[in-house]
Amino acid sequence: MAVLNVNIDHVATVRQARLTDEPDPVWAAVQCELAGANGITVHLRQDRRHINDRDVALLKETVACKLNLEMSMAEPIVKIAEKNLPDQITLVPEKRAELTTEGGLDCAGQKNRLAQIVKRMHKKAILVSTFIAPDKAQIIASTQTGCDAVELHTGMYANAKSQRAVRAQLQKLRTARDLALENNLIVHAGHGLTYRNIGPVAQIKDLCEFNIGHSIVARALFVGIRQAAEQMIELINKFSVQN
Ligand code: PXP
Repeated sequence: MAVLNVNIDHVATVRQARLTDEPDPVWAAVQCELAGANGITVHLRQDRRHINDRDVALLKETVACKLNLEMSMAEPIVKIAEKNLPDQITLVPEKRAELTTEGGLDCAGQKNRLAQIVKRMHKKAILVSTFIAPDKAQIIASTQTGCDAVELHTGMYANAKSQRAVRAQLQKLRTARDLALENNLIVHAGHGLTYRNIGPVAQIKDLCEFNIGHSIVARALFVGIRQAAEQMIELINKFSVQN
């Protein structure tokens, strides 16, 4: 059955809006864990616009479930991963001006650097996932460089406007899943997933881990983050149980 990692970046976004000390992402992580989340995901961006070094260090100390660190391939950030030892890293592309991660990582165009990072992470027993478009070249590059998993970018699915476009995106995800599994990669998915659109994606067999942030934190404003996480877990369980 598929599981949920809650991305708590936006808890830190609210804190940073006032450069103060609340709300604390560590509190959010505890609530998500109590809700039954499989993991906590945070993106340590180079500009530290939300999650910062202190958060990563404290989350490493306090999170008992999986800690998944989203990060770019920039050397200072790779060193932080080596120091803090998250359970998993998810490599993402990062642009300073973007509101959120835009496209998938170009693994095919950076195979040497990627292979080097994978080796360094494996030395520390950290799993490596790459956040990629559901694209053959990126899956092949991920497996060739020794990655453990890929996270299929669901943004195109989330943005699809017509039923036909939605079906086409779901098919792309299924085809990518097949190729990833053939290449012994674990398959995760995420980006743009909400309470309304999670169903059809959760029904895709063998997508085993979802990273979801914005929609959960948005609902948390009204129902609290524990309940918001519980509701998403319930939906994932309801749909993925039909596999
Ligand atoms: N997966 C990755 C790799 C991401 O970069 C993000 C956004 O930080 C997410 C999942 C979560 O996306 P959303 O906030 O749209 O749920």
